[in-house]
Amino acid sequence: MEVIAAIKNRRAVKSFDPHHKISEETRRVLLETAVLAPSAYNIQHWRVVDVQDPAERAAIREVAWGQAQVTDASALYVLCADLNAWQKEPRRYWATSPQPVQDFLLPKLDEYYRGKQEVARDEAMRTLGIFGMALMLVAQDLGYDSCPMDGFDFDAVAQIIHLPADFAIGYMVAVGKGTDNAWPRNREPVEKLVYIDHF
Ligand SMILES: Cc1cc2nc3c(=O)[nH]c(=O)nc-3n(C[C@H](O)[C@H](O)[C@H](O)COP(=O)(O)O)c2cc1C
Repeated sequence: MEVIAAIKNRRAVKSFDPHHKISEETRRVLLETAVLAPSAYNIQHWRVVDVQDPAERAAIREVAWGQAQVTDASALYVLCADLNAWQKEPRRYWATSPQPVQDFLLPKLDEYYRGKQEVARDEAMRTLGIFGMALMLVAQDLGYDSCPMDGFDFDAVAQIIHLPADFAIGYMVAVGKGTDNAWPRNREPVEKLVYIDHF
C-alpha cells in the first residue's frame, strides 16, 4: 500500500523551496535505494551527476528553458547511461550468481550487444527510465517531491557536466520540497490504452 500511495502522490512539481537542504544521510538513502532498481543483465548503466554547484545549476537552467526546478530544487540529478557498460568487466555484474549462470550469461551478453549500438542504447534508456522512477518514488517516501525533466539542450548539458564520449544523458530529476500544488492530474482512461491479445 505504501508503494501505491507513493505512486499516487508523486507529481511533476514545478516549484521548489530554494532554501531547503536535504541531509547527507537522506541523499545517501535516496541513491542507495534507487540503485536497487532492476537493470538489463544487471549492467546498472546508470551514472548520476549530482549537480551541487549553484553556478553550474544556473548554467544548466539557461539551457533548460529557464525552468526554475533546475536551480531551486534541493537536489538536481542528471541521469546518464554508460552505453558501453556491457563490455566493462561484465563478470562483476553476475559475481554473486552460481557459476553455471555466469558461464551462460557472459557470452550471451556479449552476443546481445556487440556491434549493436542501438540495442545497447535502448537497453540503457529502458534501465534509466526504471531507475529514475525508483528515485522519484523513494524521494516521495522520504517526504520529498520531484520532477523528471528532459526540457533542455542535451548537447549543452553534456558539455557542462563533461559527459564522457560513450555516455548518454537520459533526463534529469529534480528533488526537493514542493511549494505549489501540481496542476490537476490528467490521464487517459485505461480502457483506451490497453488491448487484449492484439492491437
Ligand atoms: C521523460 C520526461 C521528461 C519530462 N520533462 C519535463 C520538463 O522538462 N519539465 C517539466 O516541468 N516536466 C517534465 N516532465 C513531467 C511531465 O510533464 C509530467 O510527468 C506529466 O505532465 C504528468 O504529470 P504528473 O507527473 O504530475 O502526473 C517530464 C516527464 C518525463 C517522464
